Amino acid sequence: MHTITLIPGDGIGPEVTAAVLRIFKAAGLDIEWERYEAGLIAFERYKRSLPVELLDSIRRNKVALKGPLTTPIAEGITSVNVGLRKALELYANLRPVRNLAGVESRFTGVDLIIVRENTEDLYSGLEHEVVPGVVESLKIITERASTRIAEFAFAYAKAHGRARVTAIHKANIMKLGDGLFLESARKVSREHTDVSYDERIVDALCMQLVMAPETFDVLLLPNLYGDIVSDLCAGLVGGLGVVPGANLGGDCAVFEAVHGSAPDIANKNLANPTALLLSALMMLDHLGEREAAARIRAALDEVLVAGAIRTRDLGGTASTTEFTDAVCRAVEGSG
Ligand code: NAI
Repeated sequence: MHTITLIPGDGIGPEVTAAVLRIFKAAGLDIEWERYEAGLIAFERYKRSLPVELLDSIRRNKVALKGPLTTPIAEGITSVNVGLRKALELYANLRPVRNLAGVESRFTGVDLIIVRENTEDLYSGLEHEVVPGVVESLKIITERASTRIAEFAFAYAKAHGRARVTAIHKANIMKLGDGLFLESARKVSREHTDVSYDERIVDALCMQLVMAPETFDVLLLPNLYGDIVSDLCAGLVGGLGVVPGANLGGDCAVFEAVHGSAPDIANKNLANPTALLLSALMMLDHLGEREAAARIRAALDEVLVAGAIRTRDLGGTASTTEFTDAVCRAVEGSG
């Protein structure tokens, strides 16, 4: 039995987390969920967007599954997603981007691993108005965090038989900040000569990704470029509805999809739960539940390949519930 912290999130969060819970139940997984609100909902109820009890629960359980949380644009509460990653030192954001069987997309053969630094850069939230009409937003890059994420990328590459790590930067302009990120990656690369290493300027990378994404392997990025490039890469393999992720630290791990709360389709039973389901399967692997993860993965593949039941983002007409029903049936049929 596992005890796992659950943050349903807001927007489409409750719909996609409910879908994952149903599929896990169909697979017979024995999990006790500790459910917590966060973000705008928690702020309205308790005047705290990141409740202490939630952080304590994750620290105790070491593992959480999280739906997306809305961050108001240019006003309101600061990002709870960023706050959670910082509070738990979830320094590595790991996002595997792969073609899924049965999901048509612009490219085939995409098999990329995004390793995004998750604690600093422009996400430090340090901004102030210098004088009216002039704002300064601080981009923090440290040798410690840059080295730590580079070590993570190389260790991941080795453990998963990956041949190459590409560090992404804009050190031609931000010579000190991105320069430090790059120099830290170079140093780490010299300790791992069995994995090849190269570099790309972020704008050139974007062009190359939309022309030949199959030529990239592990991408190592500072926080902001990692955020933007993740969504670009999701677009290469079928969209935000199918790309999973994990926020990993030395102690705790929080699994969540790349996508946000999708307010345009929230509460309409239209969201694709695949991205959160794949994140939850990463979580099962992390917990050593490999057999269950493989069985659910096979059921998901079966439904996607059959193609008759798919959500609107993948060109189908099925609701979240209908798609979830189909995956549950496939899981039960495989049992
Ligand atoms: P978004 O990822 O929520 O949506 C972008 C587009 O993708 C929308 O058209 C949406 O309908 C579609 N989409 C996303 N997930 C989908 C799914 N599972 N199935 C089908 N279609 C899907 O990005 P947006 O609109 O920029 O952000 C909305 C809110 O989410 C913002 O408040 C943002 O701060 C927050 N956000 C939260 C994240 C998190 O909790 N980790 C990550 C990214 C954004």
